[in-house]
Amino acid sequence: MEKISRTKVIDVLKSTAYGSIVNVKGWVRTRRGSKVVNFIALNDGSTIKNVQIVVEIDKFDEDIIKDVTTGACISINGELVQSQGKGQTVEIQCREIEVLGPCGADYPLQKKGHSMEFLREHANLRLRTNTFGAVFRIRHNMAMAVHSYFHEHGFFYFNTPLITASDCEGAGQMFQVTTKNLYDLKKDADGKIDYSDDFFGKMTSLTVSGQLEGELGATALGAIYTFGPTFRAENSNTPRHLAEFWMIEPEVAFNDITDNMDLAEDFIKYCVKWAIEKCQDDLEFLNNMIDKTLLDRLHFVLEHDFVRLPYTEGINILEDAIKKGHKFEFPVYWGVDLASEHERFLVEEHFKRPVILTDYPKEIKAFYMKMNEDGKTVRAMDVLFPQIGEIIGGSEREENYDKLIGRIKELNIPMKDMWWYLDTRKWGSCPHSGFGLGFERLILFVTGMQNIRDVIPFPRTPNTAEF
Ligand code: 4AD
Ligand code: MG
Repeated sequence: MEKISRTKVIDVLKSTAYGSIVNVKGWVRTRRGSKVVNFIALNDGSTIKNVQIVVEIDKFDEDIIKDVTTGACISINGELVQSQGKGQTVEIQCREIEVLGPCGADYPLQKKGHSMEFLREHANLRLRTNTFGAVFRIRHNMAMAVHSYFHEHGFFYFNTPLITASDCEGAGQMFQVTTKNLYDLKKDADGKIDYSDDFFGKMTSLTVSGQLEGELGATALGAIYTFGPTFRAENSNTPRHLAEFWMIEPEVAFNDITDNMDLAEDFIKYCVKWAIEKCQDDLEFLNNMIDKTLLDRLHFVLEHDFVRLPYTEGINILEDAIKKGHKFEFPVYWGVDLASEHERFLVEEHFKRPVILTDYPKEIKAFYMKMNEDGKTVRAMDVLFPQIGEIIGGSEREENYDKLIGRIKELNIPMKDMWWYLDTRKWGSCPHSGFGLGFERLILFVTGMQNIRDVIPFPRTPNTAEF
């Protein structure tokens, strides 16, 4: 076969160089036609769209054509022509075919639609379906939006460690990291494991959040953001939780809780707008195939202000709803950690738009949040989204050394591990705020997919670490 440099399908479809000879390579989606002429729909992942290859059967060896089956990888040289058919403006009149990788009838992803569960079991191959192609092109674009937003706004990309000796959220949901021989663990007189001879000489884990190190960055560089993997050993088998997920954590010196809310709202809207502008084909596909309200929902979020509401008022609204006969599975009272049904009631039924809930009881939030004057609530903020629930969690930080130490003691957090963090409050402390956005929850919202396992290429959840 003649060597011609490859053109991506996305570029071929935009080309008007009719009569020129091009090479395309990709995977066969379908082949249909008669004994005289066949039409191959070829996809190379560069776009959701396929390019149509027209093959005049009598010009080719029968043995080659029979290997052009769904899933096979082929290379085509042919003439770019204006298409007579519906749905495309160009097609390729085939001159030469090479089958790079044949694909037998035992290929699990034959034409017909598969359940998401089936595709999850074939996560190594599901990337080749239209749906997952669309999702992962959008995921890439959202990562670009994140970097672009913060770069444009003068934030520095700050890389925090994945292996850490501290538990940022204090929830004890950490995966331990050790090189110790688990078959021969020595314990001291109190039954505790001695980590002094472990790799790091102390107990270490995978991080649940880069925030604490992020605060060190913000109180020096002014405004930073992290964007990296985060790990939580929480045994939550829900469509919203992963054991390994990606989090974006901006942290800004001198920002108070209101600035923090403004940042969160502006940032999410920027990402949604980016998707609408740059992922049109993929969004249209998902809007047709997965969720008919997707595009409307994206536009709606762009066009409306988020509601800002103190937790206490949120509880009042929920209690009122109960009085009027609304039934929740879990109880509602001041102090309760809201369940997803409560959050969704506020967002989807009461306000019908995103809600930023603030000023939560200190008992249900982490040690680092700034105490309000009432001594009962902290300057926390959760951004709650339709269908997703909590998409962002953040706060203004406690910058007062004594108050922070007070909280650390109250919560029995081991102080000796926190000296490096406390230093920021000892020397040149400043008001500052930040938040964490769960990247996959953003992707759920932007794609309309229903399960978080379907917006990360290789999900990690309890009892699943395949691939
Ligand atoms: O609310 P979280 O636990 O907040 C923090 O970790 C703070 N340190 C962030 C900060 O202030 N810098 O988590 C933040 C977000 C959640 O709102 C949610 O979107 C996402 O991370 N998240 C998860 N996403 C997927 N799977 C899980 N198990 C998640 N846990 C949290
Ligand atoms: Mg949270």
